[in-house]
Amino acid sequence: MGKARIGVYGLGTMGSALALNMAEQGVEVAVTNRETDWIAPFIAEAGPLAARLHPHDRLEAFVAGLQTPRVILFMIPSDAPMDAMLGVVTPLLSPGDMVIDGGNADFHDTRRRAAALAAHDLHFVGLGVSGGEEGARHGPSMMMGGSDHSWQQVRPILTAIAATHEGAPCVAHLGPDGAGHFVKTVHNGIEYADMQIIAEIHGLLHDGAALSPPEIAAIFTGWNAGPLRSYLVEITAEVLAATDPETGHPMVDVIKDAAGQKGTGRWTVIEALRLGQSASAIEAAVGARGWSAEKDTRQEAERVLGGAVGAITASAEALSEAFLAARILAYAQGFRVMAAASEEYGWALDPAQIARIWRAGCIIRADLLDDIAAAFAGGAPRGEMILAPAIAQRLAQTVPALRQVVAEAVHAGHAVPVLSGALAWYDTMRRGRGTAALIQAQRDRFGHHGFERLGQDGLHHGPWWD
Ligand code: 6PG
Repeated sequence: MGKARIGVYGLGTMGSALALNMAEQGVEVAVTNRETDWIAPFIAEAGPLAARLHPHDRLEAFVAGLQTPRVILFMIPSDAPMDAMLGVVTPLLSPGDMVIDGGNADFHDTRRRAAALAAHDLHFVGLGVSGGEEGARHGPSMMMGGSDHSWQQVRPILTAIAATHEGAPCVAHLGPDGAGHFVKTVHNGIEYADMQIIAEIHGLLHDGAALSPPEIAAIFTGWNAGPLRSYLVEITAEVLAATDPETGHPMVDVIKDAAGQKGTGRWTVIEALRLGQSASAIEAAVGARGWSAEKDTRQEAERVLGGAVGAITASAEALSEAFLAARILAYAQGFRVMAAASEEYGWALDPAQIARIWRAGCIIRADLLDDIAAAFAGGAPRGEMILAPAIAQRLAQTVPALRQVVAEAVHAGHAVPVLSGALAWYDTMRRGRGTAALIQAQRDRFGHHGFERLGQDGLHHGPWWD
């Protein structure tokens, strides 16, 4: 039996789908899994693709069954299990071999692991993979971080399995060590914001305009034919139109309103704050998931504080414009966080390239990304997406509706944390002089911290210290 070009360790949803995708592209793939009883059913269900899948029960045989230099893709939890696995597999590898972590890893772990493996002349690649099971099976968007050498080695395989947009594969080598996992983390932060924007607008239509989920589904279907066209809008229309087979009610109405989260949104916010940024739309989305999980407290609070909300009269068109404005601002914040990290870690991330590889395959794929890619490629002033002429013009057209919708929602008691958080950032950034002079005065008054004076060098103190 010939040796396999790549090994996939971990036959969960994403690992199996990626292994099948590779096999379909003509790649010989060795496969294994910690629970060895998963392997035979996976091969049995692979149909004709099984001919290119080489199953192994033992790690040693799996490693020995790979062409050298070896390439192993791990699709396992990226926290403790990944460290444990590296401890076991490293002694089996030879200098020049490569280990890829295809999970949602904390990029700090990726940097640490890359350095640890480099000490053994091994290459570690942090690969962000987006698109869920469908994407992994038929074409994900992939964000790679690692050495140039690693990229040259895996490029043919990743290019073959990636989603394509107008013929271009949605995969790129974004930078060294943690760059790929960082960009994937911010992708997920934007995903959280976009999902929460949709949930807030659904809430306004459902609780404020008394529309049923199927009626709202029809609105979203219409929006998906315009500038909001995106995967998340498409699947939202689909889920809102679905009926619960048990009760006959709209499916969304029988789902408990407590959102789960695995951590990538939170990491985006934590890293943004560490970098001196505030991605308010993403922060608000992460926070909203946290509040949603406090179901019992909210039920008690509704009794104590009253849960009534007023009517919303904003038109569907105004809501769609508010949605687009907030979406633009959420993306802009995500790109700012990436720019700050790129500078901090010396990654030289290319925002236009990132926007391009998000055009297909990933969860946040959206028509808007064409405009974003063009805006960055055209040289956004100061690297700020919102200052690129085409984006600034879009904001000028849509922010009035965002303002109207937020005002009406706040007045009627509907929580719209992402819509309002995005607007607050926009309103802060468009003012050359803000409110922080008073913060500086207060800091100086209580702590003698000093402040800069307009038009003068040096550190100054107020008359309260005279
Ligand atoms: C993707 C998704 C994927 C996963 C998220 C969900 O790009 O394919 O982002 O990575 O669905 O991790 O995250 P939460 O469970 O935190 O919502």
